[in-house]
Order: sequence, then C-alpha cells, then structure tokens
Amino acid sequence: MATLTMQDVTKQFGRKVIAVKEFNLEVQDQEFLVLLGPSGCGKTTAMRMVAGLEEVTNGRILIGDRDVTDLPPRNRNVSMIFQNYAVWPHMTVFDNIGFALKLKKMPKDEIEKTVKEVAGMTNIDMLLERYPSQLSGGQQQRVAVARAIAVYPEIFLMDEPLSNLDAKLRVSMRTELKAIHDKTEATTVFVTHDQSEAMSMADRIVIMKDGEVIQVGSPDDVYHRSASIFVADFIGTPPTNFLEVDVKSENGDYRLVNPHVDFKPESHISESLRDYDKKNLILGIRPENIVLTNQKDAVLSAECLVSEPQGSHQVVAIQLDQQYIKVIASAQPKINPGETVHLAFKQDTLRLFDPETTLAIGD
Ligand SMILES: Nc1ncnc2c1ncn2[C@@H]1O[C@H](COP(=O)(O)OP(=O)(O)OP(=O)(O)O)[C@@H](O)[C@H]1O
Ligand SMILES: [Mg+2]
Repeated sequence: MATLTMQDVTKQFGRKVIAVKEFNLEVQDQEFLVLLGPSGCGKTTAMRMVAGLEEVTNGRILIGDRDVTDLPPRNRNVSMIFQNYAVWPHMTVFDNIGFALKLKKMPKDEIEKTVKEVAGMTNIDMLLERYPSQLSGGQQQRVAVARAIAVYPEIFLMDEPLSNLDAKLRVSMRTELKAIHDKTEATTVFVTHDQSEAMSMADRIVIMKDGEVIQVGSPDDVYHRSASIFVADFIGTPPTNFLEVDVKSENGDYRLVNPHVDFKPESHISESLRDYDKKNLILGIRPENIVLTNQKDAVLSAECLVSEPQGSHQVVAIQLDQQYIKVIASAQPKINPGETVHLAFKQDTLRLFDPETTLAIGD
C-alpha cells in the first residue's frame, strides 16, 4: 500500500486547452479520497495521468517515494475503473477477473485462488461461469471492480464507476464499494460529479474547477466551511442561499442590510465585518439553517411561493426579487403557497463571501 502525490501537475491539450493546471494533491496510505467537480473540470484527465494513460505536460507523480511520472502504465501498480466500465463481453466473469493475472504469467492455481478471493469480496462468487450479457448492471459493475482489485494495486482509481447504474443501485453500490475498500485497504481515488456521492463516501474531498483544486477537506469541512461561493453552491441540496448585503455601522455595531433584511449578526462573523464597513458582501446560508419563527423574532418575512413535501421534511421556496430562497422546514404544519412565513437565521452558521474574489471571509 502507498501514498499518491501529484506535484504541480499540468496537462495541456494542443495550444489552447489546459485540462489540469498546477495540480497538487497528497493522498494518504489507505485513504478513500474523492475528486469532485463539474463536467469538464479535468477529473478524468488527472486520473489518466496517474494511471499513465496520458503524459503529463509538466509536474511529477509519485507513488510512495517512487517517481512514476515517466513509467509505462504496467509498471505503476495502479488499477483504474473507467466511466463506462466495459467488461469484456466474450469472456466469462472468471476470465474477466483472471485475465490480467494470466498476462502476468501467474500460475494457474494461484489465479484461481485470487479470482475466488476477489469474487468473494465483491459478492459475485456464484457468477464466475457466466458471460457479462447474463448479468445485471450492478453485477457487471462488481466484475469491473473485482477485475481491478485482482492485481492488488497500490493505487486504485475509480472514475465515476457508478454513473451507468440507476439511482437506487448507485446508492447501494456506494456502501459496497466502501466495504470493499475497507477489505482491500488500497489507497483509493474515487471520481464523481455527484456531491451527495462524494459526501457519503469520502475520507476527504478534493473540489476541482477548471482544472484547479479549489478546496480540500473532510465532508464536514467543505460543507460547513466552504472556501468559496462555488463550493457553497456546489455542495448540498438544495444549495446554499446567497443574499447580497451592505455592511453598515452604527455606534460600533455592524449590521447587514438589503431591501429585505436588516440585522446585527451575533456570531463569529461580526468580527470580520470591521474590515468591510460600507462595503457589499454576499451572505451564504444553508436551507436547513433558516428556521420558521414568529413575526417579532424574524429577520426576513415573505410569502411562500411553493412548498415541496419530501416526506421527512418540506422544502419551502420564497421569492425575493428575481431570486428564490429555499428553506428546509419540518413536514408539519404544511406551508401553503401565498402564506406569509417569518424566518430567522441560525447565526453561528452564517458565512460571508467577498463578491470580488468570491472567497469566504474568516476561517
Ligand atoms: N484528448 C483530448 N484532447 C483535447 N481536449 C481534451 C482531451 N481530453 C479531454 N479534453 C478536455 O479537457 C477538459 C477536461 O476533460 P476531462 O475529461 O478530464 O473532464 P472531467 O472532469 O472528467 O468531465 P466529466 O465529468 O464530464 O467526465 C475538457 O475541457 C475536455 O474537453
Ligand atoms: Mg470524466
């Protein structure tokens, strides 16, 4: 088992496209790291460089203390599962899993032992004689995983391995992949553009945008301490609500003011406001941190536009000018369209962003 280090790795395609830009990353031994970002941000390119399927334009890649930047894929001890995991249709499950071992000239009885072992881990030991066309999508997915772990790689790369599965199966395969990771203990980089998949699986999440790392942290970090507007918006459903506010000072107190709100924040953020007197800021607040209250304690009062029941809770949308604010409220009492709601903010969860840099202010 090993660490994976990417140092200032850049990948340029042709003259114009910089798919990955001065990318720095340190994956710990046995870690389950998730690379998360929107389509086209460079996730697959970054993984293909680690696997050796794509040359780097600049930078270095290390596995443990071994510099693998210029090594061919077969000498890197990396396994990769691709977006379209394509198991070989003309081979049985057994042969799919054993193929790479055969190429390595592993003795037959050892191949059989290894195939049975990884088939056991991935719950396909009953299917070894079947062909892929005789398997469900989830079973084919498990064959792809078994095939990749059969070589006992030091680094295991999974590029959106669940994207071909239906919603329900995706969720149950998450749990299975995590369990398989715990058994193999391989250092794993899991790529996805699905934030809920990332939140539920990762030890740490790396958020990418336009080829660059935007934030690295635990699921809690990126959710509660989003480093920028992009992260606060990308993580969480519904996403963070944003309000443009002006900072106004009055007898040493700082207030956040716009046509709909005017309040004195009572929390960690009031400290940060000193440097932003008379300036414009973006206030970020998550839907579950806005609470229904009475008129007297409300920071914001407005009409409910729609309420979406979700069983365990309801998502209430209100409209402020051109913008919607979403609030997660308990399922009962049901809020009806047109009803006036009085809202307060959980003050210790507020986050402020600088509109120019889009970065968070404070910690
Ligand atoms: N071989 C190539 N030649 C030119 N441009 C490429 C090539 N491969 C990728 N790109 C470009 O590099 C950028 C990053 O692509 P990449 O496939 O790494 O994104 P991604 O984050 O994996 O996206 P997705 O979530 O859609 O899979 C994109 O703009 C893409 O068009
Ligand atoms: Mg991709």
